[in-house]
Amino acid sequence: MKIINVVGARPNFMKIAPLMAAYKNASGIEPMLVHTGQHYDERMSDLFFRQLGIPEPDINLGVGSASHAVQTAEIMKSFEPVVLEHKPDAVLVVGDVNSTIACGLVAVKLGVKLIHVEAGLRSGDRTMPEEINRVLTDSISDLLFCTETSGVDNLKREGVSAEKIFLVGNVMIDTLLKNKEKANASKILDESNLSAGAYAVLTLHRPANVDDPVVLGRILDALEVIQQDLPIVFPIHPRTRKNIAGSSLAGRVKTMTDLRLIDPVGYLDFLKLTSSARLVLTDSGGIQEETTILKVPCITLRENTERPVTAEIGSNQIVGTDPEKIISAYREVIDGHWRESRIPDLWDGHAAERIVEILTERL
Ligand code: UD1
Ligand code: UDP
Repeated sequence: MKIINVVGARPNFMKIAPLMAAYKNASGIEPMLVHTGQHYDERMSDLFFRQLGIPEPDINLGVGSASHAVQTAEIMKSFEPVVLEHKPDAVLVVGDVNSTIACGLVAVKLGVKLIHVEAGLRSGDRTMPEEINRVLTDSISDLLFCTETSGVDNLKREGVSAEKIFLVGNVMIDTLLKNKEKANASKILDESNLSAGAYAVLTLHRPANVDDPVVLGRILDALEVIQQDLPIVFPIHPRTRKNIAGSSLAGRVKTMTDLRLIDPVGYLDFLKLTSSARLVLTDSGGIQEETTILKVPCITLRENTERPVTAEIGSNQIVGTDPEKIISAYREVIDGHWRESRIPDLWDGHAAERIVEILTERL
């Protein structure tokens, strides 16, 4: 049984790594790996292959950056001949990026079964490009693997038949648990002159936060106050770096001496940074889950989340972008008023094995 596995953007790599490893112990599955090239910088792509032991992609479509329509169309145009040539029994996509929906559409239109890993997550916010990708991918998938019960409930509510849905746990957490010890050896704290427990980590890349200088400016209002109290290390996403560089905010950022901008870091360094941090400020999806496992307070700079379990029982709080609310959440952490995290069901490091077992039975 041939399965084409698709990756494209940074958060896909940690999701595919444990699956590629689990296939090795499964008889009868012949996996192929296709990289769409949606992300292509060394620090947004290749570094993760090396650190996570992901095999070299069999094919890299090299599509690169473009508008949503052009990027999605280019991925579809270049992925279709791959499916036609290799005639897989199934295509497996992860997450919610443009590569996910583009390759999913190509597969189903050629009559190839589609498997979606991390299905059913819903923020309820249709202005978020990922939400459109999630809803559309799930609606055309044949097998849907969920990380949390909200995902299962959402899919059933949308009319997906129960026999296609499996609650298997979280492949991103498989990768975290596997690499935690290795990450401990990272030298990033020394290199960045940081002491464990005495700094915050920040990531920002959601278009709603970083494409509008007014919104970004309000987030900076809060960061300006926080960095006077606690250094903030900010591995900056290329979208955000470009937006700041091209705006009037660049000068302001420069004056914040303890808002320390660094290039995006590899997985092991990032895991070391987050696991030793006093708190994390983020608008990332995956980082809300990782901080839940690490039991590190997470202040989410968004008005909603598609990963409600992280806020219900994890260490996450959905705070939004109002500077006063961000500062007040920060103070709660510093004063010790933050709920200790509980680990969601099945986030135990074995999600990929469960998925591969189900694929072996079902396909
Ligand atoms: C994408 C995903 C988002 C995910 C994020 C993870 C979509 C719609 N968005 O957002 O869900 O959370 O990846 O990081 O799929 N760029 C570079 N080098 C790179 C990649 C991008 O410089 O290697 C710059 C380019 O200027 C590009 C911009 O970043 O235009 C945005 O990249 P893109 O892949 O379109 O979206 P992301 O914001 O990265
Ligand atoms: N990450 C990383 N280096 C960084 C920032 C993030 O390795 O500089 C990892 C992080 O640990 C998580 C993933 O990237 O595993 C999250 O990706 P991102 O925030 O880009 O996307 P999202 O989860 O929001 O889709």
